[in-house]
Amino acid sequence: MFQQIARVPGDAILGLIDAYNQDTNPEKVDLGVGVYRDAQGNTPVLRSVKEAEARLLQQETTKSYIGSHGDPRYGEAVLALVLGEASPILAAGRASATQSPGGTGALRLAADFIKVNLPGKGIWLSDPTWPNHLGIFEAAGLKLNKYPYVNAANQLDFPAMLACLQQIPHGDVVLLHACCHNPSGFDLTREQWDQVLEVVKERELLPLVDFAYQGFGDGLDEDAYGVRLLAEHLDEMIITSSCSKNFGLYRERTGCLILIARNHEEMLNIRSQAAITARENYSNPPSHGGAIVSEILQSTELTQLWRDEVTEMRNRINGLRQDFVDALKPYGLSEQFAFIAEQRGMFSYTGLTPQQVDRLRDEYSIYMVRSGRANVAGMSTDRLDYIAKAIAAVVKQA
Ligand SMILES: Cc1ncc(COP(=O)(O)O)c(C=O)c1O
Repeated sequence: MFQQIARVPGDAILGLIDAYNQDTNPEKVDLGVGVYRDAQGNTPVLRSVKEAEARLLQQETTKSYIGSHGDPRYGEAVLALVLGEASPILAAGRASATQSPGGTGALRLAADFIKVNLPGKGIWLSDPTWPNHLGIFEAAGLKLNKYPYVNAANQLDFPAMLACLQQIPHGDVVLLHACCHNPSGFDLTREQWDQVLEVVKERELLPLVDFAYQGFGDGLDEDAYGVRLLAEHLDEMIITSSCSKNFGLYRERTGCLILIARNHEEMLNIRSQAAITARENYSNPPSHGGAIVSEILQSTELTQLWRDEVTEMRNRINGLRQDFVDALKPYGLSEQFAFIAEQRGMFSYTGLTPQQVDRLRDEYSIYMVRSGRANVAGMSTDRLDYIAKAIAAVVKQA
């Protein structure tokens, strides 16, 4: 039976990792993979995480199952981090947290939850969006639709986005990136979030906010502006949160599905559905990452250390954005690429064409996704001139 199954191309990013690893050029630069890198090019374990792990090693007494919703202490900690400790939604018992295997796991839970409990509802994704969104929601059997986000001139096209949202059928789900939009790096301003809220209310849409980069844009609370605004003014919403980036827990698969209902009773109803979805997918989430996050967030000292580390990562990325634009100055390109300093998060849509990306790879061993998305955190200060010179060469000879 297997002989009729076709081989499919592997993930573009994984292919990029292979090509990068095989490249023997000592000057090579990896701007492809979506992980944070420090000035030495490493993705280190955070100091707060190491300390929490040391404490867990002493305290842990069992490896028994943790249940479909995961560790309740983790759920409480994530709810406070995402919605704000003083959120009235928490006091009213309107929010449910289900620990998940990464943000990806939370997205799949959300997708299945929608498919089963809101039959017939379509989902609207930004164009472009994180490619895995398409795969996850399609695999769950949802009808995918797109709303415009970045235009052909590589700018955020908010009027087109809003005009599209105003046409969406009542009750459909709209997926919004809370901050650090992946892949473009273009985020909504506060005023734009306010306008999105009005349309969501008017059309009675259900927002699903993907919050994978809390703390990587402007700050842990600042990045939550859009999420908290919607949560405060709407009866119902879905949030998927990830601790992969801000806790550096990528491989520990640590995320959370947050469901908000009109009242406590309805929250318990939808929460029971989330448990079934989790159970049918993987039964229980992995425990270790969530235990680390709860350990950190329950200790004032570790929380402070972690907050400082998030600030360090954010400042490095935002500093690199400006330094990169400055490095392009001698080549007369700083104005053309000035938007990179305004964008937020690890990624930027550079506006480079697939052909220019290919030339960067073939002639300069600089690796990025063919859409022109670059991981800014993959740059290091001493390589900025090399990257700027190469970009100037491929842009000018295009
Ligand atoms: C937009 C977005 N959502 C969700 C995720 C999920 O991350 P993870 O499953 O590693 O927590 C990512 C990771 O790259 C992302 O970029």
